[in-house]
Amino acid sequence: MVVEVLETTFKDFFSVKLQLLRKQISDSLKKVFAENELLSVQLDSVQLDVDLILCHFLKKDRTWLLFNRDFEVEETLLKEIYEAVEKRKTGFPIAYITGHKEFFGLDFNVSPDVLIPKPDTELLVELGIRNEESGIKNGSGNVRRICDMCSGSGCVGISLAWSLLNDERFNGRKMELTFVDVSEKALKITKENAERILNCEKNQEKIEIDFNFVLSNLFDNVEGKFDLIVTNPPYVPRSQSLELLKDGRSEPLLALNGDVQKNGEFSESDDGLFLIRRLVPQCYERLNHGGTVIMETGEYNAEETAELFKLAGFKDVHIEKDLNGMLRDVAGRKG
Ligand SMILES: C[S@@+](CC[C@H](N)C(=O)[O-])C[C@H]1O[C@@H](n2cnc3c(N)ncnc32)[C@H](O)[C@@H]1O
Repeated sequence: MVVEVLETTFKDFFSVKLQLLRKQISDSLKKVFAENELLSVQLDSVQLDVDLILCHFLKKDRTWLLFNRDFEVEETLLKEIYEAVEKRKTGFPIAYITGHKEFFGLDFNVSPDVLIPKPDTELLVELGIRNEESGIKNGSGNVRRICDMCSGSGCVGISLAWSLLNDERFNGRKMELTFVDVSEKALKITKENAERILNCEKNQEKIEIDFNFVLSNLFDNVEGKFDLIVTNPPYVPRSQSLELLKDGRSEPLLALNGDVQKNGEFSESDDGLFLIRRLVPQCYERLNHGGTVIMETGEYNAEETAELFKLAGFKDVHIEKDLNGMLRDVAGRKG
C-alpha cells in the first residue's frame, strides 16, 4: 500500500520530510481527481484535504504543519496516512476519514452512519434560535419542549441548544430536548455528540436541560407534544440520491432518499417528498397550540412542501432562502 501511493523515489525511505510529503500527496490526489469526472469537483480543495489528513494523523494544527516543514514523519504514521489518502482517492470524504466535522462552530463526531453536516443546514439552526428569541418576547412558557426529528449527527438540535445555553436571555428556563432517528447507529452518534458537546454547558446550570433519544420511525414511538420541531429529513428524489452516491461520498442512502415508504422500501414517487408527505401532518399533530415547525427541503421541492404545510393546517407558512439564495427551509405555525 505504501509503495503504491509513493513515487518510486520514496520507496526505500523509512521517514519522509513533511514538506515533501505534503506536496507528494497533493500531486497524487490532484492526478486522480483530474482523471475521474465524478471526482473532478474535489480538485479545488485538494490542499485543504491533504492538510486535514496530516493534521489528523500528526495530531497538530495547520499552522504547525507550515512551521515544521522539515519534520520527519515516521514509517508507522506514514502507513496510516497513505491508507487514508487511498480512501480519499475513491471519493471517501475527509470528514469520515478524520471522524470530525465542524458545524455552527462546534465539533461533531461523524461516521458513515450519519450524514455529514452541511453548511446549508446552519440556516435551520438560526431559524430555530430566532423562533426561541421571539418566544421570549411574546412571553412563551418557561419550559420549552423541542424536537430534532431525523437527528443524524445531532448537529441541528445540539447547535440550537448550545446557542440557547450560551445566551443569558434564556437563563432560568428549562428545555426538554428530544432527538429522533430511525437508525440505531445514527442515534448512538447523536447521543455521543449531545453528551460531549452539551454536558459541559449543562454543568453551568444556567438552563435546566433534559435529553431524550428516541429510536423511531418519524413520531411512531415519540411521546407528547412540542413547542418547536426542527427537522432536516431525507428529501432528495430517489433517482438523484442514487446518482449522488456514485461519487464515493459513502453517506447513508437512508439519510438522502426522500422517496421511501413507511417500511423503508423505495416508493414509486421520485420527487423526494414521499416521507415529507407523512411527516408534515405528524408535525401538526405533535405541536402544541402556537408551536412552530421548521423543515429543511431541497430548493427543487420547497414550494411543494409549503403547499403540504398549508394543507395540513399550518398558518404563517413561509420559505426561507439560504446564503446562496436557494429556497431551503419551510416554516409554519400551528394556529
Ligand atoms: C438528511 S439526514 C439529517 C441528519 C442531520 N439532522 C443533519 O442535518 O445533518 C436525515 C436523517 O433522517 C433519518 N431518517 C430517515 N428516515 C427516517 C424516519 N422514517 N424516521 C426517523 N428518522 C429517519 C436518517 O437516518 C438520517 O439520520
